[in-house]
Amino acid sequence: MRRGLMLFSLILLILMVIFILTETLNTGGTSKEAQLFALGYRVEDQILLKQRFSDDAIQQIIKNHIHKDRLFPYLVHPYFNLHRLNQYEKARETLQLSPFASINYTHLPIALHFTKEDDPSPLPAPFKQTPLVLVNKQFYLESDFEPTDLVYLKDINVVVPGLHERNQLKREAYIALKALFQEAERQGLSLYVLSGYRSYHRQQVIYDQLIEANDDNRMISAKPGHSEHQTGLSVDITTPATNYRLTPDFEKTPEGSFILNYAHRFGFIIRYPKDKECITGYLYEPWHLRYVGKEIAQFIHDHRLTLEEYILYYVPIPESGY
Ligand code: DAL
Ligand code: ZN
Repeated sequence: MRRGLMLFSLILLILMVIFILTETLNTGGTSKEAQLFALGYRVEDQILLKQRFSDDAIQQIIKNHIHKDRLFPYLVHPYFNLHRLNQYEKARETLQLSPFASINYTHLPIALHFTKEDDPSPLPAPFKQTPLVLVNKQFYLESDFEPTDLVYLKDINVVVPGLHERNQLKREAYIALKALFQEAERQGLSLYVLSGYRSYHRQQVIYDQLIEANDDNRMISAKPGHSEHQTGLSVDITTPATNYRLTPDFEKTPEGSFILNYAHRFGFIIRYPKDKECITGYLYEPWHLRYVGKEIAQFIHDHRLTLEEYILYYVPIPESGY
């Protein structure tokens, strides 16, 4: 009888120990879940972590005591890499960027400040062959880069008629420009193309002439390889009222104000806006349109951005840069 009682008490004791141990592991003990909980990750956050990260990565989060408040703001970016968290944080702090933009900047350091000077160590243009291609003082196209799908501008007024290089654009930009010009015509306005596609070699001639005349023209003309006219997505337009010249006065003509109000609806942005000279590195050019597609053009217009800002703040850049 006594032995039976002792055995019963022993079993009870063992059961109690097992119960206490499991409780400890489930709540405040050392289980993965409990450790994550202590770092601020509630049950729903832990589900998200498991969807997004490998077991190894989750162990790293625990080992390095990465609190939810530190990690989660970065998860808005699809190409977040846990191993680079410190780099993202450094970019965020030193450049006062959002978490999203700090990841982009770490993957590809898109500059938002330019002077008239050309960049001594430029990088290859990102998003080449897409309407988002970024060509500026920092990013270049190779001398042999030619856009695919160039077409001559048909049924569009051009200043210098004929099968010239300048009377070409990439097909999608041409179709959009034709629609834009048709709308202008419908409103009784008269727009002309002065210059669309420009090869590296043609840009070399223009640049050399302008820089020889005045070094400050670096704020007007791009170095060869750095002009987005080489993409076939850019076009300089003008009107009879300005004698077919490219002048800031274009803005004051009815055609100029039409462009300010309508270009984005057809997929174009004013690539070098007023008051953004230090971001683009070029003076205001109300005549220089850049095709990016309707959705992006609308967004850039509504948020008063440059292409540089749009890409840095809103386009997720993969780790390899692009
Ligand atoms: N005028 C623009 C910046 C160009 O030369 O491409
Ligand atoms: Zn231009």
